[in-house]
Amino acid sequence: MKSNNFSIGIFDSGVGGTSIWKEITTLLPNENTIYLSDSKNAPYGEKTKEKITELSIKNIDFLLSKNCKLIIVACNTATTNSIKKLREKYSVPIIGIEPAIKPAALKTSTNTIGILATKGTLNSELFEKTSNTINKEITIKETVGKGLVELIESGKKDSPKMKELLELYIKPMLIENVDCLVLGCTHYPYLIPQIREIVGKNIQIIDSGEAVARQTQNILEKHFLLNLNSSNGVHEFYINKSKETLERLIKDDNKSIKVLEKNF
Ligand code: DGL
Repeated sequence: MKSNNFSIGIFDSGVGGTSIWKEITTLLPNENTIYLSDSKNAPYGEKTKEKITELSIKNIDFLLSKNCKLIIVACNTATTNSIKKLREKYSVPIIGIEPAIKPAALKTSTNTIGILATKGTLNSELFEKTSNTINKEITIKETVGKGLVELIESGKKDSPKMKELLELYIKPMLIENVDCLVLGCTHYPYLIPQIREIVGKNIQIIDSGEAVARQTQNILEKHFLLNLNSSNGVHEFYINKSKETLERLIKDDNKSIKVLEKNF
């Protein structure tokens, strides 16, 4: 029996899922959250489906040991590789995140959308299945953002190396006439200012953060699990590496935040 004031559990291979945490706590400010950053094992994108599933199970077990009432897999790579297994294994509601190619397909005028994601996401069966539901007239230009997660994890999101990699990955998509760019990794919203400089103002940059927050609200409502307290939520973060980058990304004076380094 889960109680309404128990926390929402969120995990990612690292600090990127905090972009989702921000959307959730903006929409649902009175919810308590526990975030797990498995930074020691990042990136997941280069690992096998089996390994990604094993790590996801370890992460969920940790969050459930803290009595979380709902789990958010704030990682496209973990969702696209393991969500089916996770939902079979656990009875708690589990929400995943997938690249927003469907909304992009509705918005494109050039019938060409670009997606930047990890190798693990782009090679997954779930991504292939979703891609096959898109109107056949639309071309999807897929690009692996190799190295981007590592740079963000090590606090180098604004480095010259990042700029170089982003130009290398995005410029070819522009030549192909892409007018919507899907960010298929929860780390990438932190790169939007740099990406905007490369693509200019006419390209739409689309991520799934807001949609996941709305879905979280719907599922909590459906299971009668919304926190009915009127006070602001408290937020605990666990990370199995140095907490420096994480703290820099979530710094927000209006929220009650505690960050703990822990070996899990
Ligand atoms: N934030 C993860 C995602 O959304 C990063 C994956 C990785 O660790 O490679 O895919």
